Amino acid sequence: PRPIFLTRPGESLGSVLNLVGGDKNLSATGEIYSKLLADFVNERLKTEHTASVWMSTLQRTIATVQHLTQFPKVQWRALDDISAGICDGMTYDEIKSKMPEEYKARSLDKLRYRYPRGESYLDVIQRLEPVIIELERQHSPVIIVAHQAVLRSLYGYFADKPLEQIPYIEIPMHTVIEVQMGVAGVEEKRYKLL
Ligand code: F6P
Repeated sequence: PRPIFLTRPGESLGSVLNLVGGDKNLSATGEIYSKLLADFVNERLKTEHTASVWMSTLQRTIATVQHLTQFPKVQWRALDDISAGICDGMTYDEIKSKMPEEYKARSLDKLRYRYPRGESYLDVIQRLEPVIIELERQHSPVIIVAHQAVLRSLYGYFADKPLEQIPYIEIPMHTVIEVQMGVAGVEEKRYKLL
């Protein structure tokens, strides 16, 4: 069976400031991660004839795969970050002080809470359906570079996690999660590259 590799974009100028969403480019540390990721993939997949790299349409994922030149790349809008609507580009602290009701509503039901003019986790899970269908058709490894909420949803699907747990799954930065379907269920390995 083919493995799937999941990773978040390298650190961006948005993650340094703890911003929700946004479309900022990588920080110097994020740039280092993009090189380490290419080295890791070269080594881990050196005996594979084919593989593909799937990423979102945001700057930070595109920059994260810039050195992954050995395999074809596919951009998916369905892999874009959860849309935070009117809160896009704000910090969590700003949301908490300027829109306390929104902040509270999200903390009470993170799975179903939909940002005003944006999305909920349930919306993200639903828009990932075509990605999952396509993934299940693949005969070669796929490296997916996408955002925290998106990877929580994909990982939650493959690891068969209850929906309520999905918004809280830990997807650390600068780490590659390898997921493989085995006879005994899902096997996973985590590689912390930085
Ligand atoms: O911090 C990175 C990020 O991908 C944000 O862009 C996004 O809004 C957030 O994580 C999702 O995590 P949470 O649902 O815990 O706010």
